[in-house]
Amino acid sequence: MTDISPIPSVAVEMSMAGKVCIVTGAASGIGRAIARRLAAQGARVVIADLTTDVIEGGEPTAELIARDGHLAVFHRTDVAVTAQVDGLIADTVARFGRLDVLVNNACIRHPRPLLELEEQDWWRILDVNLSGVYRCCRAAIRQMVRQAPVNETRGRIINLSSQHGLIAAPDDLAYGVSKAGVDYLTRQIATDYAGRKIVCNAVAPGKIHTGQGGRATDPAVVERALRRTPWRRLGRPDDVARAVLFLASDDASFITGATLMVDGGWMAA
Ligand SMILES: NC(=O)c1ccc[n+]([C@@H]2O[C@H](COP(=O)([O-])OP(=O)(O)OC[C@H]3O[C@@H](n4cnc5c(N)ncnc54)[C@H](O)[C@@H]3O)[C@@H](O)[C@H]2O)c1
Repeated sequence: MTDISPIPSVAVEMSMAGKVCIVTGAASGIGRAIARRLAAQGARVVIADLTTDVIEGGEPTAELIARDGHLAVFHRTDVAVTAQVDGLIADTVARFGRLDVLVNNACIRHPRPLLELEEQDWWRILDVNLSGVYRCCRAAIRQMVRQAPVNETRGRIINLSSQHGLIAAPDDLAYGVSKAGVDYLTRQIATDYAGRKIVCNAVAPGKIHTGQGGRATDPAVVERALRRTPWRRLGRPDDVARAVLFLASDDASFITGATLMVDGGWMAA
């Protein structure tokens, strides 16, 4: 059947007015940019991180957002600790009444190939990058399924995966495995909970310039990333934030279980 209802000529695009959002790892980098974007569109944002310190420098994210004239609060959370994750969701709902959007962005890195990767480091990376997403999704969906749907949706989850969840991350085994797991988990949750009106998508950034040091700033790594990226620059945190905003908004209808690349064409080449 063709839908012939008129499309309003003045649309308020990607409004997050009144929505309650949690962004993990939002003290720095991409998470910080996501929190700013969501808040600027009217969301009430909870910044869930181990720290308020900003890796790339600057004032804490909640203060920056307040200075922009928007609303954000900080909630100290370690996504590797189940009780803290459950407390994050409970406190958010106690404060704001519901949870509309969860963005799983927190991550750690420890780039090593297999033969140089200690078992304790393997488990540490997986515990934060993959099990952290599992814990946060579980706590969030327990809440979301109890909420009344708004625009057909009880809640939205956006997971940060990576192009390196889809192709090998050179010499970076545990991170790549964790991101592949996040991508799979996204599809599984989307499939299992669509019937209960939970939306779950992933955003997979390419090489984004954040405050990370070490290997991320190694001239050889940067040069390879530029060579590998058809759109000849590194990504910016706000490139990723705009994609997350779209998937967090009601403008993203009938999209679930998807991975949206934000990689300047890395995976297309
Ligand atoms: N930067 C890139 O090039 C790139 C590329 C692909 C994917 N990504 C993904 O994007 C996301 C953000 O990356 P980024 O470069 O902004 O990272 P970042 O290192 O700049 O920031 C990570 C944030 O996570 C927080 N964090 C770490 N452990 C935590 C824990 N246990 N609990 C709560 N918070 C914790 C840190 O304090 C920090 O604020 C990650 O999921 C990453 O895998 C980044």
